[in-house]
Amino acid sequence: MMSSASVSPVEQIAPPVELSKPLTIDERQLMTPGPTNVSQRVLRACGLPVVNHMDPQFFKVLNTFTNLNENDGYNKTTVIMISPYVQVLRDVSAGIRYVFQTRNQYSLAITGSGTCAMEAAICNLLERGDTFLVLSHGLWGERVAIIGRKRGYNVVELKIGKLGDVFSLKQIEEAIVEHKPKVLYVCHGDSSVGTLQPMDNIGRVCHQNGCLLLVDAVVSLCSAPLDTDRLDIDVVYCAAQKALSGPPGVSMISLNDRAVQHVKNRRTDVDSYYMDINWLAKAWGLDDDNNHQFVYHYTPAVSLMYGLREALAMVAEEGISRTVDRHMKSSLIVQKHISSLGLKFLVEKPEHRLPPILSVLIPNDVNGNEVIKHLLDFYNITIAGGLGPTAGKIWRIGFLGVNANDQSVGVLCRALSDAIADQRKKSPKL
Ligand SMILES: Cc1ncc(COP(=O)(O)O)c(C=O)c1O
Repeated sequence: MMSSASVSPVEQIAPPVELSKPLTIDERQLMTPGPTNVSQRVLRACGLPVVNHMDPQFFKVLNTFTNLNENDGYNKTTVIMISPYVQVLRDVSAGIRYVFQTRNQYSLAITGSGTCAMEAAICNLLERGDTFLVLSHGLWGERVAIIGRKRGYNVVELKIGKLGDVFSLKQIEEAIVEHKPKVLYVCHGDSSVGTLQPMDNIGRVCHQNGCLLLVDAVVSLCSAPLDTDRLDIDVVYCAAQKALSGPPGVSMISLNDRAVQHVKNRRTDVDSYYMDINWLAKAWGLDDDNNHQFVYHYTPAVSLMYGLREALAMVAEEGISRTVDRHMKSSLIVQKHISSLGLKFLVEKPEHRLPPILSVLIPNDVNGNEVIKHLLDFYNITIAGGLGPTAGKIWRIGFLGVNANDQSVGVLCRALSDAIADQRKKSPKL
């Protein structure tokens, strides 16, 4: 028997057998509300060598920057000296401005999923006791309301009368006038029900009433038109794993000057370290007050940031209008096919359907779970069921990012026809 002195305490527990096996993951066609499949190009970028985001060279160089928003704000000699990671930050920031269609200086990515960006947005904009008006089409409004209550805001949740409907401008205006919120939350595309909330004039109504407009574009960004500056949106956020086909675990946020000033004028300090936009802006070299110097905030998910950079580059190469059109075209193909099968949508009005995620009512003569299983077993395709009140009542079928193309949706349509016909054959009286 070994003496206890010769055995390190960390070795008292044997290495787990599970970890002795290599990790294998079979690729599936992810036709869900996300995450979607990640392209080889993005995966390759994620595998690039990790660099130190605190490269000393990087500090030396960045003191010379004057205007990080302008491509001509620095000379060529300086560009050559930029550390690779700083270049990634600059590229990502520019890419975020492009996909959100905004000139907002504060445009950056956060190491954390869409929920992290959601929480970051509200914890910067709101203070304890502030009124927070939430338009709730489904799960995401409910989630932001839960986070708001946890944080001690006075949350007013306006629930949609019927799932699958959207709010009218009149309803929104009346609620703002009645409750006088500091911030209004709107989920542009709600993936839990498949709605696309019209955004025109909501910004105007908010600002006429001294309220900031916060938009959740986690799913709608690049899959439906969303012009942040034209719509006068104060804060908007998104996540990489949806229409960008990026890696899950990173999100993007953009704040306009009105929102930034609002944060700077808070009565109390932002009650989060990780999500404090003042710190984030410094870490991204975006803060005028800090002379655009990059400071250490936390260690970012460097590899995911490479992947996000590449996903943004792919949209920039395609052009955002074409990316949005591609999602719309795929959506029209699938909608037509679903209608031809005699199926109905939860969202009745086609113009209120979120293009890349269709919520389809499961017909009475079909076992919804069996259809999901059939698609997986025979076609290697994953679709999703409903959540909460729609569980067992709808399928949610998505074709985001790399899956929004004629070939993928063609296979999906054929697979759906087959799965439904198979069910009808097996249980005709269901
Ligand atoms: C509209 C919307 N908002 C927020 C989220 C939360 O994002 P995440 O799951 O990345 O935290 C999702 C996720 O699907 C979403 O669809």
